[in-house]
Amino acid sequence: MKGVVLAGGLGTRLFPLTKITNKHLLPVYNKPMIHYPIQCLVNAGITDILIVTGGNSAGDFLQLLGNGADFGLKRLNYAYQQGEGGIADALKLAEAFAEGSPIAVVLGDNIIEGNIKRAVDDFKSQGGGAKIMLKEVHDPERFGVALVKDGKVIRIVEKPKMPETNLAVIGIYLYDATVFEICRRLKPSSRGELEITDVNNDYLQQGKLTYDVLQGWWTDAGTFESLYRSATLIRDNGANRMDV
Ligand code: DAU
Repeated sequence: MKGVVLAGGLGTRLFPLTKITNKHLLPVYNKPMIHYPIQCLVNAGITDILIVTGGNSAGDFLQLLGNGADFGLKRLNYAYQQGEGGIADALKLAEAFAEGSPIAVVLGDNIIEGNIKRAVDDFKSQGGGAKIMLKEVHDPERFGVALVKDGKVIRIVEKPKMPETNLAVIGIYLYDATVFEICRRLKPSSRGELEITDVNNDYLQQGKLTYDVLQGWWTDAGTFESLYRSATLIRDNGANRMDV
């Protein structure tokens, strides 16, 4: 299994912090934001990793991360996304890297307390398809929201005004290699982006989507409030712990 960290986009919700630098280089407590999703993959035993970046200061990732020695890696792979075409648009750039193998995708602004090793192991024995991770939140309207019945996901709605549940789809996705065919079929949403929720709903319609509920806290760090919150959570509890 290979890993992909998506760290493109323009981070406009954090303007002016992101006017000059890339969102994923901003500090979250004692590390740059990008460290957390990389460590998340490494803790799950995934060591062949692609960073997709874009926007401002893309070259700084190379200077910061180099060949991945801070994570015990021998090398890191990089790709560059032009513009802000959406999460699934950034994911398309991972096709040549994946070379037909399944992938674990982590959004560059998602931080978890625990680890995803069990979900990754379960996915490996699922025989293809996709697995998403869900977490109860108090502000589901900010996220992809899942309706679950009898252990199955019924539908996922991206940022619903009136969420049917408080189950957010977090930014960690496990996909088989058909994900790139799905990405090619996507049409831009009303906000002009290729949506990862449309990818997940495609797997759902094929009957190939499973889910897991994440243990421990989860947060994104893409707004002022969540950036502040993530620093506090890390200071108080630590992130990417192996015992959660
Ligand atoms: O955090 C989880 C949520 O992430 C999910 O619940 C939503 O379903 C999903 O759409 C996404 O929502 P956001 O609107 O919060 O995503 P955002 O635009 O902030 O992008 C999240 C990360 O994805 C960002 O840190 C880098 C990467 N990205 C995003 C865009 C738009 C790219 O690499 N390229 C892009 O063009």
